[in-house]
Amino acid sequence: MDLAGKKIVLGLTGGIACYKAAEFTRAMSKAGASVQVVMTSAAMHFITPVTMQGLSGKPVFTDQWDARIGNNMPHIDLTRDADAIVIAPCSADFIFKLAHGACDDLLSTLCVARPATVPLLVAPAMNVEMWQNPATQRNLTQLLEDGIQLLGPDAGEQACGEVGMGRMLEADQLLEEVIASFQPKLLKGKRLLLTAGPTFEPIDPVRGITNLSSGKMGYAVARAAYEAGAEVTLVSGPTALTTPYGVRRISVQTAQQMHDIVMAQLAGADSGTDVFVAVAAVADWRVANASAQKLKKNADGSAPELVFEQNPDILATVAALPKPPYCVGFAAESENLLQYGEVKRIKKNVPLLVGNIGHDTFGKDDNQLVLFDADGHTSLPRAGKQQLARQLIAAIASRLI
Ligand code: C5P
Repeated sequence: MDLAGKKIVLGLTGGIACYKAAEFTRAMSKAGASVQVVMTSAAMHFITPVTMQGLSGKPVFTDQWDARIGNNMPHIDLTRDADAIVIAPCSADFIFKLAHGACDDLLSTLCVARPATVPLLVAPAMNVEMWQNPATQRNLTQLLEDGIQLLGPDAGEQACGEVGMGRMLEADQLLEEVIASFQPKLLKGKRLLLTAGPTFEPIDPVRGITNLSSGKMGYAVARAAYEAGAEVTLVSGPTALTTPYGVRRISVQTAQQMHDIVMAQLAGADSGTDVFVAVAAVADWRVANASAQKLKKNADGSAPELVFEQNPDILATVAALPKPPYCVGFAAESENLLQYGEVKRIKKNVPLLVGNIGHDTFGKDDNQLVLFDADGHTSLPRAGKQQLARQLIAAIASRLI
């Protein structure tokens, strides 16, 4: 549970996006957090404290004169053991108040009175014109200068019917951002490029050859790198997975396309990519005589003759560049992992190779890894893929000069 033991004060201000705060509360609770909801009077026009109490399992506070707190100081007591304060939704008016240190209701007073060690995260939610208004933008700049973290917003359709910037992030994206805020920023300022998922090699316009890679491990590594503060580009074969929040994804189908996109990302005297992680299960061969039309069954019952040619080895090509980024390979073996892993690391000429057993990882939510480097190997025992991905990112960060 990614938020186990964390105490989050969730502030709601006036906005239609309050409906998303209900689901966000559930999501944080499920992730192990205890959530203390505080609402402004405007927020209560959109959702009731009864709903938020039901979802958080705690009485909701709305008034700075609330006598339920023994010393009558809810603005102090509610944050003293908090790990973070999250304002979602945060209206343009509340952003203005935060920028100026206003203390005219419980939530604003509580934010100003928070200890310097308690991070404040703000998820803006407003109409596009309100977002673009120079006054709002000035206030947002002030928030960033004051060390307040912005979560989103996103662009898209708005409740008022207009389209543009100002939509609050979805509950699952907010959850990812809150979890990320607690991860150490081991890759801050670094750029990471990775491949993930299977590739799909066409036989004809409707058929092809692929493999059982789900993409889960690669997506977990991409998310862990973003959590660690890296700028992440994910080149992904076909998967059913949602792109982790904050990660730039480029979708491809074939190994050749994956190769071409990776090389284009690395092109130029200094592409600025610090780390390349090849997690994708790239097809070793493609069909050289793929048909432009759907193949028909032959009247005599004979099968079509497929001719194969080898795909480029993306990892080996990147590792052989004159100035390669720090390269990390993956190896999915079916047996003899300790022996094959080290041999593969040397063959691919990469400083770090991550071994796993193919049939134990494809499609699963957990895995176990062995890291091979010039000093030998280290085992990461069976755990969830996200947890292993965070350990792998820490291992990579510790090896970067
Ligand atoms: O040789 P093998 O396929 O076992 O190597 C696995 C590693 O090489 C993985 O990191 C995989 O992403 C990468 N690879 C690649 N291009 C290929 C084949 C594998 O980048 N054509």
